[in-house]
Amino acid sequence: KQRVLSGVQPTGSLHLGNYLGAIKNWVALQDTFETFFCAVDLHAITLPHDPASLAHTTKNSAALYIAAGIDPAKASIFVQSHVSAHAELTWLLSCVTPIGWLNRMIQFKEKSLKQGNEEVGSGLLTYPVLMAADILLYQSDLVPVGEDQKQHIELARDVAKRFNDQFGGNKWKKRGGRGGRIFKVPEIMTPPTGARVMSLTDGTAKMSKSDPADGSRINLLDSPSEIAKKIKRCKTDGFEGLEYGNPERPECSNLLGIYEVVTGRSKQEVLAECGSLSWGQFKPLLADAVVAHLEPIQTRYNEVVADPAYLDTVLANGAAKANETARLTLKNAYDAMGFLLPS
Ligand code: TYM
Repeated sequence: KQRVLSGVQPTGSLHLGNYLGAIKNWVALQDTFETFFCAVDLHAITLPHDPASLAHTTKNSAALYIAAGIDPAKASIFVQSHVSAHAELTWLLSCVTPIGWLNRMIQFKEKSLKQGNEEVGSGLLTYPVLMAADILLYQSDLVPVGEDQKQHIELARDVAKRFNDQFGGNKWKKRGGRGGRIFKVPEIMTPPTGARVMSLTDGTAKMSKSDPADGSRINLLDSPSEIAKKIKRCKTDGFEGLEYGNPERPECSNLLGIYEVVTGRSKQEVLAECGSLSWGQFKPLLADAVVAHLEPIQTRYNEVVADPAYLDTVLANGAAKANETARLTLKNAYDAMGFLLPS
């Protein structure tokens, strides 16, 4: 079976962008692929974080994976820090990843701008190397993510190729190793709609956990009345009717896109139904559709968190499976680099 790995940072509450861009698409892959989904807690400390809540948010995000439809009987759900190979491989990869490649990462530039070089931790710069380790450890074929992760996946591909070139193939074989490539070069997978869900208050900005305004996003655990209120207040425009793709109406494209995915309709169907509606008519429809889509997820979430022993077992099994797979790759990486392996 081909492999899939993906993860979400357990910082704050997961939102509709995380769900439509990533988690919803993971669900569809678990039947045909061998899947690994992790709560990437090591990534969550690259910006200042609250030690009092990290453990809690890590558990909750894993619970949300299950609530969203990831089946622990099919997929390995685990916590990144529980599989130490992630941190170890990060070091090996760091030593072959040029700093210039990392300096070009847009997310690093955006996030570090706010703090300045004397404040920001070096983990924020090497963050994509940790992400590459996550992916490469599992020999992943596909990485289902939102569009904002594209540059990081490209970096993971480049790192894999560079490592394979420097240490794999005949060079490795001549030293008595297995030869061939150490890492598979992964492909990105983004959904046709929902790969970039925009903020409710600004159709040109991405919906994000770090936006201080909670009204800019729909959190997966928002109550029906909160969702209705946020959609009622969200930014719109003075145009008549609703349409996709008008560059002057980013909010319109975004909200129709959300409606499309949560109802499971096609663009044509959405246009036929909503093209001539006013905002006042469309907003309650959208709110109802989002609420209806999230309701079963919220119900299941409450069941999962009510049974901590179950979640602990899922995470322990997931980590054991992940560890087994990751160890093999890690060992090959050490061997190909010429390390003395422990006997
Ligand atoms: P993170 O935690 O910022 O986001 C998790 C996933 O949600 C997607 N996403 C969005 N999709 C559509 N619209 C949005 N507004 C939106 N906001 C976020 C992201 O693209 C992502 O798929 N570094 C990663 C996590 C990570 C990872 C990995 C992913 C760590 N290791 C290995 C894949 C494979 C991150 O910070 O995502």
